[in-house]
Amino acid sequence: MVVDIQNNIKNYLIMKTATPTTTKAKSATAKSTTSKASSPETTEDVQDSALNELFIDELKDIYWAEKHLAKALPKMIKGATSEELKTAIQNHLTETENHIVRVESVFQSIGEKAVAVKCEAMAGLLKEAEELLEETEKGTMTRDVAIISAAQKVEHYEIASYGTMATLANVLGYAEAVELLNANLAEEKNADSLLTQVAENTVNTPAKSEKK
Ligand SMILES: [Fe+2]
Ligand SMILES: [Fe+2]
Repeated sequence: MVVDIQNNIKNYLIMKTATPTTTKAKSATAKSTTSKASSPETTEDVQDSALNELFIDELKDIYWAEKHLAKALPKMIKGATSEELKTAIQNHLTETENHIVRVESVFQSIGEKAVAVKCEAMAGLLKEAEELLEETEKGTMTRDVAIISAAQKVEHYEIASYGTMATLANVLGYAEAVELLNANLAEEKNADSLLTQVAENTVNTPAKSEKK
């Protein structure tokens, strides 16, 4: 499936490369009237592609998502019961602040202004997290199980987003963006497995004996 998608993207770009020179000249003229800085890593053809536009849209989406998450994580820290979970989320809050800066660097590396556009998926996941906090009792391990469940859904959304964006950046020839996006991807994966460790080592077993 992933290979199919990647092949489709490659085929799309090959088609774009085969665009007649007259269209190319037109694109170059149109580009010169905009204030967009051209990246040394890519061609005018790639910058004018629909795929590039999709990539930028995805960047705007994750930029909003990360900013929104940075505001929501302190509530999860405050609501958590175990010190292990509080520490894990606190550490990921620091990483999340770095993710925002890296996404800004990705925008900069491709000559685009950093713009956040509401990510409905992250808004929904964080709303669900808030509901779980309301539905579980403060000071219980069941509360921590709920927070971990919500946090891991968020991490998986981010993992999928950065995985896709790193692949697109690679296809589009944005070498610096690939590195930045992969750095965020690695930290999301690490955060996800640390949450699994907290669940398995600290939270799940005591939660099992809590009464409703
Ligand atoms: Fe992140
Ligand atoms: Fe994350």
